[in-house]
Amino acid sequence: MKNKIIAGNWKMNKNRVEAEQLITQLIPLVKDTSNTVVICVPYTDLCKAVKLTKGTNIHVGAQNCHWKESGAYTGEIAPSMLTELGVEYVVIGHSERRTYFGETDETVLARTKAALQAGLKPIVCIGETLEERNGGNMEKVLSRQVTEGFKDISADELKNIVVAYEPVWAIGTGVTATDEQANDAIAYVRGVFAAKYGKEAADALYIQYGGSMNDKNAAGLLAMSQIDGGLIGGASLVAEKFAAVVNAHK
Ligand code: 13P
Repeated sequence: MKNKIIAGNWKMNKNRVEAEQLITQLIPLVKDTSNTVVICVPYTDLCKAVKLTKGTNIHVGAQNCHWKESGAYTGEIAPSMLTELGVEYVVIGHSERRTYFGETDETVLARTKAALQAGLKPIVCIGETLEERNGGNMEKVLSRQVTEGFKDISADELKNIVVAYEPVWAIGTGVTATDEQANDAIAYVRGVFAAKYGKEAADALYIQYGGSMNDKNAAGLLAMSQIDGGLIGGASLVAEKFAAVVNAHK
């Protein structure tokens, strides 16, 4: 049986003082879980987060990284700049980046490759919009995101990747996919991976659900056979709520 990977995506929230408060509150609340706990914090909180979580079971992630090692890329952060700090995970291709910052399957692949090369574990996000789902194109979109976004990822590299299925219509809306909707979509995504990498590799791959997951609905979602964890936005900003998600599955 796999454990679950529960990752908090703080997005653009929490300054250093607030981050310290949240992490200090969180540490004792999640210390007994057998699930993997990750917090993906703003760049400016990374140092503090790594320092505070040292010796605990909480892993630290960033929310993006560039595909180049260095250079004239104003505003970007290289993967090695993250590993140097002790960061272990990085979110890649979040729908907010795809929607607001022009991220494409191609740039997602480039960032993922570079992150892997540096020794980071990418949490690669995919998911359809409501329009795509209602238009009967959910499978087509997910299939394209996997096919294009993982184009030259090897089977060995896949072992270090976490996939997050985040239907765009469920992000920050309070509308969660039902347990079955999330499970079915993830089963479909796993099938796309299986076609390329084989069933064993696809079964071993961690695929999280994300989108308005919280302390109330986590137990149901995490009990589903295909759901290997969660990527949590809003509910990860409150220690008790995030801890309840982490502890919702034994
Ligand atoms: P919410 O949990 O706030 O819906 O955000 C989900 C998400 O986008 C996590 O990456």
